[in-house]
Amino acid sequence: MAGRSRLLPCACLGLFGVLCWVWVSFASFPDDRLHLETLDAVDRGAFQPQSALSDMEFASVATYRGPGNADRRSNKELPILLWWSGGLFPHFPGDTERIDCSTSSCLVTSNRKVQLYKRTTSIIFYGTDFRAYEAPLPRLRHQTWALFHEESPMNNYFLSHGPGIRLFNYTATFSRESDYPLTLQWLPSLEYLLEPVVVPLEEKNRLRREGLAPVLYMQSHCDVPSDRDRYVQELMKYIEVDSYGKCLNNKPLPQHLEDTATATGEEPKFMNFVARYKFHLALENGLCPDYMTEKLWRPLHQGCVPVYRGSSGVADWMPNDHSVIIIDNFPSPKALADFLKHLDENDDEYSKYLEFKNHRHITNAHLLEALETREWGVNDMSKPNYLNGFECYVCDQENARLAAERAYRKAPKKNPPPEPKMASNSHVGCPLPRPGYGDVQDLPANDGWLQIWPQDYWQSLDQAEGLESLIRHNESDPSLLWKHIQNIAVSRARGKH
Ligand SMILES: *[C@@H]1O[C@H](CO)[C@@H](O)[C@H](O)[C@H]1NC(C)=O
Ligand SMILES: *[C@@H]1O[C@H](CO)[C@@H](O)[C@H](O)[C@H]1NC(C)=O
Repeated sequence: MAGRSRLLPCACLGLFGVLCWVWVSFASFPDDRLHLETLDAVDRGAFQPQSALSDMEFASVATYRGPGNADRRSNKELPILLWWSGGLFPHFPGDTERIDCSTSSCLVTSNRKVQLYKRTTSIIFYGTDFRAYEAPLPRLRHQTWALFHEESPMNNYFLSHGPGIRLFNYTATFSRESDYPLTLQWLPSLEYLLEPVVVPLEEKNRLRREGLAPVLYMQSHCDVPSDRDRYVQELMKYIEVDSYGKCLNNKPLPQHLEDTATATGEEPKFMNFVARYKFHLALENGLCPDYMTEKLWRPLHQGCVPVYRGSSGVADWMPNDHSVIIIDNFPSPKALADFLKHLDENDDEYSKYLEFKNHRHITNAHLLEALETREWGVNDMSKPNYLNGFECYVCDQENARLAAERAYRKAPKKNPPPEPKMASNSHVGCPLPRPGYGDVQDLPANDGWLQIWPQDYWQSLDQAEGLESLIRHNESDPSLLWKHIQNIAVSRARGKH
């Protein structure tokens, strides 16, 4: 293909630790699918950068010629991957591009016109945006679905139900069980963990004598499935907690910090302010296996001890076996408070939690290996980002599947058909939300959390079953979802389901 090309960092599966660049060229689709053969002609049209920024990026890489792969097919022979959630399309908006991945090439686009093309072999979805009543139907047998879901699972419980997640063939999620795991997406590097303690213990003790609480809580998103405030409120009865966010607020934030409190970035003034606390309450908004965010990694980075509730498997990813305090290891908020007070009064015991700041004390080989072998980077321009990485994973998988299908058709006796591949509940798998403290049957009927999250969870199961039914019936109108949900409920009530 002539002319319009640029360099993109992309997947380099199997070559861990080796940086590889992929050669990307632009193509676009004709408006009518009957004119597919004009693809290459259209491809020669003038390239129009969408913004000043993409203009710049384009200019800075346009002259690089990457190594590519051994895939010599022209654009019109390549399978097409369609990004259903255009907002996340990791290329210039509106473009169709050729991606040259580690073993094969594909075209990628966010143009929904290609939905029913024979060549469109896979549709990529963004989990947070995925809505059953907007799904691309009918689902074609030759098309796989790929799910990218790195954000909070509270945004879409649909994906936590078996019937929902099993609709997808490939996943990139926070779960280590997913096909392209993003588990450490919030941990930029090992160096981030090894950063020296910001406020030394003597200074923290001096601040304690001046009246600073031992524990920090800083949360402004209060109505969440993990119901964290209910736990923290109980904990506050037994130990002093300074709470600056909107949730359970008991202290005003100093004026010079107000603007930055809700920022997700690591503004130095704000960072130094929170680093003065010995303990940070770090409770995720949803409690799912392997869902861990900056709430956990940031205190470790700063040299404060996270008091954590979130992923049940968090210990598997910690620098060693004494760097985090896991809330659910304590029988009650009071028992936890007693333990925190004990550490607060025993410098040697407290300091053990920060031993990992010395490289020798990072003993978790699993963590080290995961950081070393992941192919994507976090805020690291020298590595591919995980969107491009996943897209290439799907591309290579699809090309391998197509090749296996061709081989099977040619010589069915010699070549087995490719095995179907689909996701399982372990790829997201967040359980039914439970109250942050106490039993659900003890909550009053008008409890705010009770009225939202358990219902949201069960309604999303209805939607998963409804979409499964739409697909099974080869429906092409996703808005029939509600009718299918109703039918399922009716036949269930009649004891038929
Ligand atoms: C993709 O997943 C669907 C739904 O679970 C399944 O029916 C289909 O066989 C899978 N396709 C491939 C190629 O594995
Ligand atoms: C499914 O629906 C599509 C579009 O409505 C139609 O072209 C196709 O023949 C149907 N397939 C089956 C197996 O009914």
